[in-house]
Amino acid sequence: MDLVIISQKSNQEQWVEALKALEPTLKVSVYPHDTDRDEVVFALAWHPPKGVFKNYPKLKCIASTGAGVDHILRDSELPLDIEVTRVVDRNITDDMTSYLVAQVMSQMRNVSHYKLLQTNTEWQPKRYLDNSTTCVGIMGYGELGTDAGNKLKLLGLKVIGWANSTKNIAGVKVFVGQAEFNEFLSKSDILICLLPLTSDTENILNKHTFSHLPAGAFIINVARGEHLVEDDLLAAINEGKLSGACLDVFREEPLAKDHPFWHHPKVTVTPHVASITSPKSVAPQIIDNYRRLRNGEPLLNVVSRTKGY
Ligand code: OXD
Repeated sequence: MDLVIISQKSNQEQWVEALKALEPTLKVSVYPHDTDRDEVVFALAWHPPKGVFKNYPKLKCIASTGAGVDHILRDSELPLDIEVTRVVDRNITDDMTSYLVAQVMSQMRNVSHYKLLQTNTEWQPKRYLDNSTTCVGIMGYGELGTDAGNKLKLLGLKVIGWANSTKNIAGVKVFVGQAEFNEFLSKSDILICLLPLTSDTENILNKHTFSHLPAGAFIINVARGEHLVEDDLLAAINEGKLSGACLDVFREEPLAKDHPFWHHPKVTVTPHVASITSPKSVAPQIIDNYRRLRNGEPLLNVVSRTKGY
């Protein structure tokens, strides 16, 4: 009943430590230096190499180290009987909400604009957006979207959501499905993307989507780079249709040095840091699922392989 860590991040030692602190007898190994692959039943993964799981014949569960599972499900060779789980963690939610509140406020209060003026020692007041008349539209109204929406509402902003299924959330109208997408967009002064990446949501931030937003809308993408059609975004900003964008995720990470986003005055780039998983905080739910697996009990936070989230 061993566990393997298959991750492209450099924090494997922190994971080993956090897991062993909770389950000292657990045999934890780190790919590709692991040897007893026949004994592994549980894998902890972040951007695993394609086809890697075929090397573990007794594998029963793959746990993403983050909230997203697209990096696991895109492996078409993934055996169907393996359960895939995601992380649901208070710290991840709090951190994402803090990032979103910071970026929404920064845009509304013209922070980048003044940073630019400061380099030219220019004193030029600009009207800021009013909380009570600005509407934030959140695409993907799950755990993270709901928390961010609630905190933004506390600041007096209008909040609406867009989801795949009906949600009853006090004070927030959640538009549902393709039929209500354009209406949702037409009201979103600031559009936040928190969607899972699936074949339905890939490239969803495109010129058609942008054309339905109010003039001067602002885009925040904290989901996946593949949601965004980069050229469509740059064209919409350069044409003045959008006022700018804040991007934390990219098709290629790290973002190439010569990418136009880096030097665009209306684009804020952050290096996939909106919310970072803490092994110490998340290890208890991984161990909980490991024990459930061992005891033949249902696992928590299992994703639907067909829905992709
Ligand atoms: C995640 C991420 O999915 O960090 O958790 O992108």
